[in-house]
Amino acid sequence: MIRTLTIIYTTGTGHTEFVIDTVIAALAASCPTLRVTKQRAEISQPEDMHKSDALLLACGSWNTNNAEGMLSPYMHDLLIVRAAKEDLKGMPTAVIGLGDERYFFTAKAADRMADYCATHNAKLLLPALKIINDPFDQAPKIQAWTKEFIAKISALPVVTAQ
Ligand SMILES: Cc1cc2nc3c(=O)[nH]c(=O)nc-3n(C[C@H](O)[C@H](O)[C@H](O)COP(=O)(O)O)c2cc1C
Repeated sequence: MIRTLTIIYTTGTGHTEFVIDTVIAALAASCPTLRVTKQRAEISQPEDMHKSDALLLACGSWNTNNAEGMLSPYMHDLLIVRAAKEDLKGMPTAVIGLGDERYFFTAKAADRMADYCATHNAKLLLPALKIINDPFDQAPKIQAWTKEFIAKISALPVVTAQ
């Protein structure tokens, strides 16, 4: 299975951080040898998306550029502006998008990150995890998704990160 995972995320309220920390705890329990790097989109460079064997992107939905259902501003800046021309060269990838049911375009950040992966040659390992509303009582849903994620990354061949 793969040995390293980079998680690039951003958060306004801490919701996405809670989801990511729940994923990391589940990974640590099932894949103790997996080395996980967790870093904020705002300090990430496009090349950081290449530095591990697999990549996980996560953020909330936002009204970036005054349109609903967009990526949160720092993830927008990374993926849509700075990494607009990045070729992910088959990088095994998963995405997590958060949102709130009070918005018409609910949790669209998940779809936008999945679209980014599809159009930048990433290999999306499983359907996006969408977390709608307060995540703090949704740990079972996050853990169930992480179990599927683990099954997918466990099936990948061992590769050497650059
Ligand atoms: C300014 C603003 C705009 C938002 N726009 C949307 C939206 O278009 N669609 C949606 O589903 N949620 C939207 N949300 C809700 C957030 O995505 C949701 O609260 C999420 O859990 C925030 O995660 P974070 O605090 O980790 O960034 C918005 C929240 C704020 C504050």
